Amino acid sequence: MGIDIEPTGAALGAFVSGLELGKLDPDESATVIEALGEHGVLFFRDQDVAPEGHIAFAESLGEIDVNAYFSPNETYPQIAEVRTRPENTYVIGEAWHTDHSYEEAPALGSILVARQLPTSGGDTAFSSMYAAYDALSDGMKETLRGLRAVHSSYEAFGIGLSKLPEEERSERFRDGFRFGPDVVHPVVISHPVSGRPVLYVNRSFTTRFDGWTAAESRPLLEFLFEHGSSVEFTYRFRWEPGSVAMWDKRCTWHKALNDYRGQTRLMHRITVKGCPIAA
Ligand code: SIN
Repeated sequence: MGIDIEPTGAALGAFVSGLELGKLDPDESATVIEALGEHGVLFFRDQDVAPEGHIAFAESLGEIDVNAYFSPNETYPQIAEVRTRPENTYVIGEAWHTDHSYEEAPALGSILVARQLPTSGGDTAFSSMYAAYDALSDGMKETLRGLRAVHSSYEAFGIGLSKLPEEERSERFRDGFRFGPDVVHPVVISHPVSGRPVLYVNRSFTTRFDGWTAAESRPLLEFLFEHGSSVEFTYRFRWEPGSVAMWDKRCTWHKALNDYRGQTRLMHRITVKGCPIAA
């Protein structure tokens, strides 16, 4: 069976069929990484991916990057659990973001497998940072190309999580996690696979421009956060049993929709390590 890659028709995303995700050969892995760099997010339907297959799929693409903050699965510590219980009002990842931008070498991507879905809602939305960059004026592109930005895990996981009730925090996040040092990345990076320019800031982890105060940075960052979430750059994925999504963390943002109050949603996420990024 050959691989079929069908673009969604929106600014990003493609549906991929013809692969057995837990058993990729090296050529198939290379095709997935290239397609990911091109489309930003790949969707797979009707997969029978047990945790072992999920891990094997991730390992065929690179080394697993164990998330320092999310609660791991008890049996498979490589898998982070993204869990919402009926009593939770906050959904993990409900603001537009890209994870791991606070690392020197941001992760390549994450693979999300649906384990328990609400009866309706719980979609994940994705936004293309290629498209967001391309749509800027030449003047703004030139300004941004001269800037670097600070990315911090403290704002989201230190200040953000301190607002959650203790019981909920300890169930959904690891105990005693530490914050890494803040890191600085160019505001416009060259994608390590496609070579295309990408707008590389995000609301959850970018705190200011390097050499600027937070107050000075806020208006321009706020513009970029709003711009990046413009509907024309986005695609909304509806989960079904057997769905798998993999997104490239260098050229996309994503957001989990908080629209299924009173129901359970459990997703298994594995992240694959990336490489240093540059302008
Ligand atoms: C995340 O990785 O931010 C969670 C995405 C989701 O649960 O849909």
